[in-house]
Amino acid sequence: MKVLIADKCGFCFGVEHAIELAQNLLSDNQNVYCLGPLIHNQQVVDRLVKRGLTVVNHLDEIPLPDEPDQDADRQKPTVLIRSHGARPEVQKEVKARGFELADATCVLVKRAQKLVEQLYQQNYQVVVVGDPDHPETKGVIGYAPEVTVIAAEKDIEKLPAGGRLAIIAQTTLSAQDFRRLVGLIAVRDFDELKVVNTICRETQRRQKSALELCEKVDVMFVLGARHSANTRELAQLCHRKEVKTYHLQNFQEFLPRYIEGKSVAGVTAGASTPDWIIREFVEKLQKL
Ligand code: F3S
Repeated sequence: MKVLIADKCGFCFGVEHAIELAQNLLSDNQNVYCLGPLIHNQQVVDRLVKRGLTVVNHLDEIPLPDEPDQDADRQKPTVLIRSHGARPEVQKEVKARGFELADATCVLVKRAQKLVEQLYQQNYQVVVVGDPDHPETKGVIGYAPEVTVIAAEKDIEKLPAGGRLAIIAQTTLSAQDFRRLVGLIAVRDFDELKVVNTICRETQRRQKSALELCEKVDVMFVLGARHSANTRELAQLCHRKEVKTYHLQNFQEFLPRYIEGKSVAGVTAGASTPDWIIREFVEKLQKL
């Protein structure tokens, strides 16, 4: 089978930085806790867990440094904030409990957080276009007391008429969806509209390169975790290009019928999919 790989796919700099930070912390401290999975890829998280990382969902799960049953030689717990970021209260609470803080929030997510804070202070009604259940959005909206999240067209009704609106995007949103929803908001009644494109360049490059690849192949494989927003966006974009597309986590999920009657396959991967998964997939597919 002929296999073509997207020019831009796999790990982005934000994910690379988060993994490197976790590895550095673990090499001199085995008391490291991550609030939620560090990135949206179970295999990568499992490797870090084997090296000593503990994944927790809440700070209450981490023993306080001065609890009597704590080993005196054990280092203070370090809490690692993942690349998606967290609400500002979480960081304050980490310090209040006496834990060390290590922040792996991607710089582009930090930019979105800062914008929400500033735009609210400038008296804009802040709107985030994105998934309200995604950890990044949950964190970003914590930077102002009032933020409206628009995930789909029906949510636009939530916006009041008039006023000053400022819109930003979840960093991994597709540019097409952002443009479409901003266009629908723009025809409503308001006094002022400010739009800041916070979709990250890494996401945009992966999307552009996947779309270009769709033109050259009979079938597309998008590799990455099911709950990875940027991987799901890539798969949806390829579907819309009307190329038969499969979103798989790795080669173990591949079925021979996916390539029946096809001669050229395209492979792309989300920003949290490691190289070794892409390489294994391509090598095995080429042998078929
Ligand atoms: Fe950051 Fe974009 Fe990656 S927001 S974590 S560089 S997908």
